[in-house]
Amino acid sequence: MILSTLAITEVNCAPFQDQRPGTAGLRKKVSVFRQPHYLECFVQAIFDTLKLPQGARLVIGGDGRYHNTEAIQTIIRIAAANGLREVVVGQHGLLSTPAASLVIRKYGAAAGFILTASHNPGGPDGDFGLKFNSPTGGQATEQVTEAVFRASQQLTGYRIADLPPVDLARTGHTRLGELAIQVIDPAADYTALMQQLFDFDAIRDWLKSGHRVRFDAMHAVTGLYARRILVDLLGCPPDSILHGESLPDFGGLHPDPNPIDAAGLVAESMRADSADLLAASDGDGDRNMILGPEFFLSPGDSVAMMLASLQQIPGYRSGVPGVARSMPTSRALDVVAARLGIPCYETPTGWRFFCNLLEAGLIGLCGEESFGTSSAHVREKDGLWAVLFWINLLAARRCSLKDIASQHWRTYGRHHYQRWDYYTADTARANELVAALRSALPGLRGRQYGDVRIESADDFHYRDPVDGSESAHQGIRLVLGNGSRIVYRLSGTGTTGATLRVYLERHVHDEASINSSGSEILAPLGNLAAELARIHEFIGANAPTGMI
Ligand code: G1P
Ligand code: ZN
Repeated sequence: MILSTLAITEVNCAPFQDQRPGTAGLRKKVSVFRQPHYLECFVQAIFDTLKLPQGARLVIGGDGRYHNTEAIQTIIRIAAANGLREVVVGQHGLLSTPAASLVIRKYGAAAGFILTASHNPGGPDGDFGLKFNSPTGGQATEQVTEAVFRASQQLTGYRIADLPPVDLARTGHTRLGELAIQVIDPAADYTALMQQLFDFDAIRDWLKSGHRVRFDAMHAVTGLYARRILVDLLGCPPDSILHGESLPDFGGLHPDPNPIDAAGLVAESMRADSADLLAASDGDGDRNMILGPEFFLSPGDSVAMMLASLQQIPGYRSGVPGVARSMPTSRALDVVAARLGIPCYETPTGWRFFCNLLEAGLIGLCGEESFGTSSAHVREKDGLWAVLFWINLLAARRCSLKDIASQHWRTYGRHHYQRWDYYTADTARANELVAALRSALPGLRGRQYGDVRIESADDFHYRDPVDGSESAHQGIRLVLGNGSRIVYRLSGTGTTGATLRVYLERHVHDEASINSSGSEILAPLGNLAAELARIHEFIGANAPTGMI
């Protein structure tokens, strides 16, 4: 249908008061997002805040979860009513988060909308979410997301164009009146970039010599990317990909690449016939978990070992100017950076804090303990990129993942690391716990517990070195004298209740401690952390709800 002008309807409605974006965009239950006017109002608040130039280009794509395509149609209509004239959208509404970041940059978009609740469950009773990214491909800053929240609270309505649904099934250009729409192959640009960064010939040779890879796409967005890269280009057998079909409810799985939610993969890695590298990604493809035969690679170790191995990977042979990790992430990266004589920045939790550093060219590699790693090739974390990095490294080194890790630990020491999560339905009590801990900080400094002393205790405050913006209350950290550290913070991505995250770390150097299990080394620290924060007293928990 050809429309000569856009018919725009102004809809009046009351504002919603609960549209404050969290660590990575606005996440709510599908039922909340499907309330009349809910998505429309949030998108209008974004356009009111961003004030994009008339005629600007927008990128839209999502992780394929339930409500993805309906939401895309709605966003296109609101975008058109707000003066945008070009929309680039992934075929079938799909774009992984890292691919969307790349496409936003490459197509010179004024903004990007990524529809995802990341690793949260999908389906009609699951979660939905929306992140909005800047022209750099990075997530909107905290200042912008707060401004959107304020705008959403005062909204009196929204504008929506009367457009028929866009056909998302076929790639190519179409027009709906003044609106130009380009439906793109979600994997094309991303695949081309991966071919530039990694040595596909060396990987093919390694695979031909009998090595095997197993990738669990968890019925989420990465299935199509993995098929294109691992199977079509690198020659892995098709059954190397597990749960490869993208499903709106992720097949009932929890698409979170961690040892609990990807327990099947961990079990495979323990079998005598384990693949050489096993990996999983999450709903929107930005997280990664890496395993080898009888070996789990902790994310904090992964980024540190990547830094120590850059010379082996074609796209990174010239090194990086600096690196960064989120504050709760293990300090294994700092040790390698110090050895290389490059800076290691410590940022608050959430990928968006890396973006200024990446954009300013201060860093070229960064990571979070929550299974997130990436480089300056995009402005989001990138699951499949991390998997390809490790496959390339195995192909270059011709030894096992475990051997690479053992050599690394012998050189730099090992940072045993665990995260203990405590969930409570009572958000108020969780907030009280944190407030009490914060006021106890001055008294904790210098205190002795058995043979360890608390050397420093503070509430992490970040000042962005690029734009000088400040972020307060980003986590409470206690640094102990024996190479240990405890960090506490509340999760910012849940949709109900509150989760207290307790991050435990200990740097050890002797062979026996290096070879001990993390649970053994960290149990006393975890118990001390629970005691210091009076976790049982505040939220009634005797043990963590989950340990990773
Ligand atoms: C979690 C992770 C954090 C990550 C975020 C988005 O946030 O801890 O590192 O950036 O998901 O993937 P949290 O729930 O802890 O606020
Ligand atoms: Zn994610």
